[in-house]
Amino acid sequence: MTALLELKSVETYIGGSRILRGVDLEINPGEVVALMGRNGVGKTTTLRSITGVLPVRAGTITLNGESIEKLPMDVRARAGIGYVPQGRDIFPHLTVEENLHVGLVVHGRKGAAAKASLDRVFTLFPVLKEMLARKGGVLSGGQQQQLAIGRALLTNPKLLILDEPTEGIQPSIIEQIGDTLKKLKVEGFGHNYSEEVQNAVKILKAEGNLAILLVEQFVDFCRECADRFYAMDRGVVVVSGPIATLTDEVVKEHLQV
Ligand SMILES: Nc1ncnc2c1ncn2[C@@H]1O[C@H](COP(=O)(O)OP(=O)(O)OP(=O)(O)O)[C@@H](O)[C@H]1O
Ligand SMILES: [Mg+2]
Repeated sequence: MTALLELKSVETYIGGSRILRGVDLEINPGEVVALMGRNGVGKTTTLRSITGVLPVRAGTITLNGESIEKLPMDVRARAGIGYVPQGRDIFPHLTVEENLHVGLVVHGRKGAAAKASLDRVFTLFPVLKEMLARKGGVLSGGQQQQLAIGRALLTNPKLLILDEPTEGIQPSIIEQIGDTLKKLKVEGFGHNYSEEVQNAVKILKAEGNLAILLVEQFVDFCRECADRFYAMDRGVVVVSGPIATLTDEVVKEHLQV
């Protein structure tokens, strides 16, 4: 099977410093993968290298087997990489509705296709429907996060990249985001989900495989949502494997401050 996304020996510099020192990482269709590690080890830099915000100095990045590391950001986005950066990045002066329309416009979706995409987002995040007329900037942190993820989904990505979706958010909202990620997870269907969740999974399943790459510091959250994990330290992956192998020892050695 060809991986959906594959990084091989990726090196990325910021200024004169080599921040990524040969990152290897792989995501298969439909997988939820957690990228973990202490502050400053290069998680966000890895995501920026994948999305094209930062140029890669050495190594390769492939999407469905095709080299993308030289392509500009917008081309990678249209090729199926949806990105929700750390700190959310919504437009505070636009309403929720306008923010969502940005997502539709970026992907050139109109009419019935646009409506279907919006309905899907409202199924996943009902709170957004109630707040359509409100300015993004007045939403709570958790609501802004849902808006940012919703907007990214409107571009219909094959790979959704989330940088610390739970940062600065209340535990109850973290649970909501966790539930949503579970809905989005194509595999793992067959649990005792509510009807609404099952519908969401069916819709997403019919649309194709959505994989999720998630930078996250909350270990419990990763254990709940992810299929596999990678732990980074100082610019390289130091340990990876199925999420069941993310033991307390691994957490202590590589993740705890
Ligand atoms: N614009 C920049 N200029 C200089 N150094 C930077 C810049 N952005 C990041 N770095 C450095 O690169 C390293 C990796 O940063 P990165 O943001 O990838 O870390 P991270 O793992 O995402 O950390 P966090 O958990 O705090 O978000 C850090 O040492 C950081 O100081
Ligand atoms: Mg970061």
